[in-house]
Amino acid sequence: MNGILYFSSTGNSLYVAQTVQKNMTGELRYIPGYKGNGSEYEKIIIVSPVYSYGLPVHVFDLLPSLRGRDVYMILTYGGMLAGADRLAYEYACESGLNVKGVYAVKMAENFTLTFSTPDFYNKLVLRAAPAKIERVIASICGNEERIPKEKKTKRLEHETNKANWHLIAKDFSVTDDCIQCEKCVKLCPSGNISVKEGKIHFAESCVACLGCYHRCPQKAIRYKNRKKMDRYFHPDVKENDLGKDTFVEGVENR
Ligand SMILES: Cc1cc2nc3c(=O)[nH]c(=O)nc-3n(C[C@H](O)[C@H](O)[C@H](O)COP(=O)(O)O)c2cc1C
Repeated sequence: MNGILYFSSTGNSLYVAQTVQKNMTGELRYIPGYKGNGSEYEKIIIVSPVYSYGLPVHVFDLLPSLRGRDVYMILTYGGMLAGADRLAYEYACESGLNVKGVYAVKMAENFTLTFSTPDFYNKLVLRAAPAKIERVIASICGNEERIPKEKKTKRLEHETNKANWHLIAKDFSVTDDCIQCEKCVKLCPSGNISVKEGKIHFAESCVACLGCYHRCPQKAIRYKNRKKMDRYFHPDVKENDLGKDTFVEGVENR
């Protein structure tokens, strides 16, 4: 069986992972909950967003447990790859993985705390993605090797930013529109959000995924108290599927 290990906060990478599952079959596993070592899978396909030209914390932390395994990586990004494919390759090799290929698929940008991407542009990008994903799947099914060429990466910038991601939630505030549904508490992959004295409280282990910011049903979470109202979630993904593991398309493991 193939193992499709994914991380996602706004559905882009889950969309790719689900498309891979439809075409190649296999098991979808949400990386924050995955405790295996990959030995149960024939092909392992890691699907992850690019964060600051590198990898999210949970994906980076997964790598050592897959030591010795053959893996493919599919990265989704919002428009600035800047060598992230090569850096992901290097991190995976440093963790002892046998990387067969790294692919990048441009999707809608979700790091939109301080700027907005126009709707029409997001639509164009999302319309172009399926053809690219199809080519990636054909390449993986054909057992092609796709190692990114050696190139300049932004390792230092990535590692500096990563060291500061935990501070992002310090600039989150919650408006009176909050209905205390605690969705943010449940979806946070690092357990960083809780309710304290009747108020949403952000602790110090934010991984900057922005899931809470984008998926609050009331848009009640603000960054630096900006009144921006645009939020993003991939339009063709069911939000409830994010975080789930599925053996067969649409059938939950648990
Ligand atoms: C903390 C953070 C950093 C990001 N850094 C980059 C980046 O360096 N380059 C880029 O093109 N997109 C970047 N993005 C955008 C995401 O990679 C992109 O929107 C991705 O498809 C989101 O995937 P998801 O919907 O599965 O979470 C970043 C997003 C976040 C939250």
